[in-house]
Amino acid sequence: MTDTTKDRVVIFDTTLRDGEQSPGATMTHDEKLEIAELLDDMGVDIIEAGFPIASEGDFVAVSQIAQRSKNSVICGLARAQLPDIDRCWEAVKHAAQPRIHTFIGTSPLHRAIPNLTQDEMADRIHETVSHARNLCDNVQWSPMDATRTEWDYLARVCEIAIKAGATTINIPDTVGYTAPRESADLIRRLIAEVPGGTDVVWATHCHNDLGMATANSLAAVEAGARQIECTINGLGERAGNTALEEVVMALKVRGDIMPFDTGIDTRKIMHISRRVATVSGFAVQFNKAIVGKNAFAHESGIHQDGMLKNAETFEIMRPEDVGLAGTSLPLGKHSGRAALRAKLRDLGVDVGDNQLKDIFVRFKELADRKKEVFDEDILALVTAATEDA
Ligand code: KIV
Ligand code: ZN
Repeated sequence: MTDTTKDRVVIFDTTLRDGEQSPGATMTHDEKLEIAELLDDMGVDIIEAGFPIASEGDFVAVSQIAQRSKNSVICGLARAQLPDIDRCWEAVKHAAQPRIHTFIGTSPLHRAIPNLTQDEMADRIHETVSHARNLCDNVQWSPMDATRTEWDYLARVCEIAIKAGATTINIPDTVGYTAPRESADLIRRLIAEVPGGTDVVWATHCHNDLGMATANSLAAVEAGARQIECTINGLGERAGNTALEEVVMALKVRGDIMPFDTGIDTRKIMHISRRVATVSGFAVQFNKAIVGKNAFAHESGIHQDGMLKNAETFEIMRPEDVGLAGTSLPLGKHSGRAALRAKLRDLGVDVGDNQLKDIFVRFKELADRKKEVFDEDILALVTAATEDA
């Protein structure tokens, strides 16, 4: 249910575009369609489905995703070139809600590549955004490497894009260079000082090179951004993009200090995370926030004992809220008697205090030799203890 006391933040997922740009993460056509369906179904507001000019395969995938999408806006990426924008429109125009996203690198380093002066680039932005807006009512514009662009020039080109008809202005931290306070200050200043700044949606698009993508995205939202660009599992170029599951769960769990709602059904997070890991071939690290294998697992005796008494002792969110069946208490050398007793109970083994003591000694000996003790190991220990009794 929508909480009317909270502001709505739009979730823009770019797993199928920026995520797929990670070296080695290429997905097949059918895999892209499957992931798009899962994104649509979990409540992602906008799916960036690909870069239609990049290849015939990307064009076809974006067109088909556009035709099939039920709820999400379908967006395609285009460079600041008229043929790119036309190709993008050809692909997304089939969607009930299409969006064209066009961009150009505005920092001194990026301006040097096409060798454009500031004025020449400003003209190009005006021409390409106007062209996109003539094709589509929903146009997003991004100054790539915004966080390393001179303030005066950044403000100037944002104003030009707004005047040319952009409805969303996205501020990419393309190389993950910014820090949270800076991210917030930049968004706040753009909204306040760029003419027309209060008439558009400001988006934040962060990369994770210094591990600050989630913090930077949330800081931008607190400063007024209302669209977060992110990917499942944080997939993306180099160290990746902001992870969808992290920003969405942070807003859900810490709604007390960040009163923002998303439309995401968080119970669908785990399934899509696993599917993206499988189809991209990028396994999720065990200790990854929210979706890592260990995110809801507790091995040490003190933690397991606490968890068995009250789950809130060591968990700030319920595993069910991200689509897991429950907490896991793997048995290892740090585990205590309470977890062993609980495991025996789960396995249907009823033991008295003396037998538990004996099995616990055997369990600790085994756990010193083995990383994780499985159910079969426990049952074997019970059999051995019963035979020796
Ligand atoms: O990181 C980036 O700058 C991008 C743009 C294309 C938005 O992905
Ligand atoms: Zn990016």
